[in-house]
Amino acid sequence: MQENESVPVAERCGCIAESRAQELEEHAQIPANYRRASFETFHLPHDNPTAQRGLADVMLAVAAYTRNYPKNSKPGLLLIGPPGTGKTHLAVAALRILIAAGHEGIFFDYQNLLERIRAGYSETLGTSSREAYRVALETEILLLDDLGAHRVTDWVEDTVTAIVTHRYNHRKPLIATTNLPDPDVWGGLTEKLGLPGSHSYRITLEDRVGERARSRLFEMCLVVRMPAVVDYRIKQSAIR
Ligand SMILES: Nc1ncnc2c1ncn2[C@@H]1O[C@H](COP(=O)(O)OP(=O)(O)OP(=O)(O)O)[C@@H](O)[C@H]1O
Ligand SMILES: [Mg+2]
Repeated sequence: MQENESVPVAERCGCIAESRAQELEEHAQIPANYRRASFETFHLPHDNPTAQRGLADVMLAVAAYTRNYPKNSKPGLLLIGPPGTGKTHLAVAALRILIAAGHEGIFFDYQNLLERIRAGYSETLGTSSREAYRVALETEILLLDDLGAHRVTDWVEDTVTAIVTHRYNHRKPLIATTNLPDPDVWGGLTEKLGLPGSHSYRITLEDRVGERARSRLFEMCLVVRMPAVVDYRIKQSAIR
């Protein structure tokens, strides 16, 4: 009898699935601060019914995305809204659910990804940096955090457009977050509404990623707009 045959098949399969999920989670490069991000650790504010409803709706939309995956009509997810409203938390929560279900995904901070790709171009044989570019194109699910958080140059715009276009052409899921406003999401009202962080809202998503990448993002992603809630970081650090 083989060594493993004494273990019931269902148990063995469960064990294999669990260790694969663990491997995938290690491979996903989720930053330490978000390793426990989940729907369970996402709290709804009890002191503001409008904010509570708004965040609950957002959470349900993200949960539905993970439930339908990979049969979603739009393969990607774009979370857009002011700083500290929980975009990265929810994006990671979604990625972790998909990873637990056996899918492969990688977290990339947008700035860091661009820096790594650029380093690869300036060296003659920057294999590890080229690797970052290849992974951004090829990985099953790419989580691109803080999209557009980089000053614009032709090189940045071309690189983002290349990544987004490749993923768009091949219907490869992209989960992205951004706190840049977009007139078609915010209706250009953000400054008038005085939303948290609105001082930085003059630069739009299109300014930072270009027209072509923005156009593709809207077609390939379910766009989820964060409600106007208080920055969670500031709320948590409030002096009591
Ligand atoms: N509703 C919430 N419940 C629990 N933790 C939250 C909630 N919202 C945010 N957080 C936590 O607050 C911190 C900031 O949230 P997060 O990074 O997701 O914000 P963000 O919208 O991505 O902000 P930015 O635009 O600055 O990147 C994180 O540590 C996150 O886990
Ligand atoms: Mg974020």
